[in-house]
Amino acid sequence: MNYHQQYDAYLQTFNDRLTVCCDAYLPLGSQVNEAARYSLLAGGKRVRAVLCMAACELLGGEAPQAAQLACAVEMLHCYSLIHDDLPCMDNDDMRRGRPSCHKAFGEATALLAGDTLLTAAFETLSGSPGTAVQNTAAVCALSRAAGANGMVWGQELDLTFEEKPATAEELREVHRNKTGMLINAAAQLGAVAASADDIQRQAIARYAFSVGLVFQIIDDILDVTATAQQLGKPIGSDAANGKTTFVTLHGVERSRGIAQELTDGACGVLRAAFGGRAQFLEILAASLL
Ligand code: IPE
Ligand code: IPE
Ligand code: MG
Ligand code: MG
Ligand code: MG
Repeated sequence: MNYHQQYDAYLQTFNDRLTVCCDAYLPLGSQVNEAARYSLLAGGKRVRAVLCMAACELLGGEAPQAAQLACAVEMLHCYSLIHDDLPCMDNDDMRRGRPSCHKAFGEATALLAGDTLLTAAFETLSGSPGTAVQNTAAVCALSRAAGANGMVWGQELDLTFEEKPATAEELREVHRNKTGMLINAAAQLGAVAASADDIQRQAIARYAFSVGLVFQIIDDILDVTATAQQLGKPIGSDAANGKTTFVTLHGVERSRGIAQELTDGACGVLRAAFGGRAQFLEILAASLL
């Protein structure tokens, strides 16, 4: 199977599971759940879901379990996007090619839609077909990555550096937390589904944090080089909010170079740990560039 066929196959399994999870955990009948579904089902690249499923397959786990854990990660990611777009944060009116949740449903409903997705993510983990030990490990991994020592901390730092400039080191800390933590959690949930050992999990983490940083560097670049139509979200958002980004610190060309170096390093880690079996994840990393 080639890379694109494999990506589509993961997506298909994920989407089928997401339909089931939405029916179970985000039932229709309330405005809040409708708003949550509006944002969650609007597409997106589903990179975190694919990462989860591919890591699981690489490590010998079962696809149905990984698909359910992937649904939880995408719910949590979607909550972070809804809140990230709110006027009190990045104040962006478009997301995934349509009006942001708060533009379509109002701020209060969007706030609650984020809350319900965050909560549903953990209900989804607890309903996964894994063992109790696996499900507890999954809850632990996702909650750590998302909370005050992870994504929320990264978002707090991100806002701090609207008021004052960040150093290169500080910006890496922002990106590691606001984006890298959840990307790593996605891969680690795949590892949980496969009951991976410590050495395997460490290799996956080294890969995932590099990929997470690349992901945010490219996002920073696209904010100044792409079109809103290509991205499905506004461009120029970072400059409008006075944010320090890889582009403001290093410029576009050097940022691309750093992303390439990080990708080469991430692929090297995988090859050393898993040989040719990790080819899909290597191509995934390269495709983010
Ligand atoms: C956007 O994430 C937020 C960042 C961390 C840069 P994605 O680029 O994965 O957004 P979707 O899920 O494809 O919409
Ligand atoms: C988003 O970073 C990170 C999280 C949502 C946690 P950005 O603010 O750069 O993402 P976009 O550009 O709005 O998608
Ligand atoms: Mg933001
Ligand atoms: Mg934003
Ligand atoms: Mg951005």
